[in-house]
Amino acid sequence: MTEKDFISNPSFQILDSGKVTWESPSNIALVKYWGKKKNQIPENPSISFTLETCKTITSLSFIKKDSTEGFSFDVFLDKVKKDDFKPKIQTFFERVEMYLPFLKRYHFVIETKNTFPHSSGIASSASGMSALALCLMSIEKQLNSEITNDYFNKKASFLARLGSGSACRSIEGPLVVWGKTDSIEVSSDLFGMKYPYKIHNHFKNFQDTILLVDKGEKQVSSTIGHNLMHHHPYAKIRFQQAHENLEKLKNILETGHLEAFIALIESEALTLHAMMMTSMPYFILMKPNTLEIINKIWQFRQETSLPISFTLDAGANVHVLYPEKDATKILEFIKNELVAYCENGHYICDKIGFGAKQLTM
Ligand code: PMV
Repeated sequence: MTEKDFISNPSFQILDSGKVTWESPSNIALVKYWGKKKNQIPENPSISFTLETCKTITSLSFIKKDSTEGFSFDVFLDKVKKDDFKPKIQTFFERVEMYLPFLKRYHFVIETKNTFPHSSGIASSASGMSALALCLMSIEKQLNSEITNDYFNKKASFLARLGSGSACRSIEGPLVVWGKTDSIEVSSDLFGMKYPYKIHNHFKNFQDTILLVDKGEKQVSSTIGHNLMHHHPYAKIRFQQAHENLEKLKNILETGHLEAFIALIESEALTLHAMMMTSMPYFILMKPNTLEIINKIWQFRQETSLPISFTLDAGANVHVLYPEKDATKILEFIKNELVAYCENGHYICDKIGFGAKQLTM
């Protein structure tokens, strides 16, 4: 598919008003996306677990307006008007306008809330942008009933990508691939798609306990971080490594080889942060407690041989990943040994999920 496949014809028939609601999850990458080209095209392929608990619920109300000049919308977070969210949504609307010809014909009210605490250091851009893209697709579907489910999901992911790259991996679950790579035949740079191959039982219901080490705003935005990969001395080899890791992961996901899984995802997490530390300007998003937790996990794993592992996002929080069958022992360890390193002792128990859900038409 190409960008052209997502351009829809302006509809003659237009609804007067309506409201749609979607809930859309966050996701955590196993092979990381870090570095992008123009139009939010990734420099390398990535794959993520879709989460179940951390999600955004967005309602989009639309009412026909008289003029077709400019975009018209208001945004509310937890019922509070958020004019500071408007520039990001304005940019998103500008990027997707050519694919959604009805955008300028409506005034929109966007009402959104997250299931995770507002300042938790958990980025809401993946769940937020995917929820908004899905709401827009629901309007498009009301204007064109011929849209298939497959096209709906692909275009929702395509649109979400233009809002925030990793958001394109938040439409479906439990595992989503984004970025063209030889080992996954149908993969695309334009949208995320459900991982199409066999997944071993070990990974079903995989657990993710998110340790909130630092609940503050990130000091360096991911946009700046991605851009620093442009002249990065290790960029080329890193992008190549992501292709190789996806190929390796395909085999691991099929065989359920947990030791190999742990080595691969921890290396990916540390490589992401190594790219940040070796860019110019360089920066560090991990905090001392991030390292304390990593060391405790390694020590516990060595002592117990339990398949506990970690991954990191672009921040200080630690995602602790483990199979459901070992959840009791590992959760006890987390509570006894790791929670002390979290800001105000806060953590979130999440697990692998199955994607976004429409709540109202
Ligand atoms: O979607 P963005 O532009 O915020 O980028 C996020 C990138 C990472 O979260 C660090 C990695 C990933 O693949 O999700």
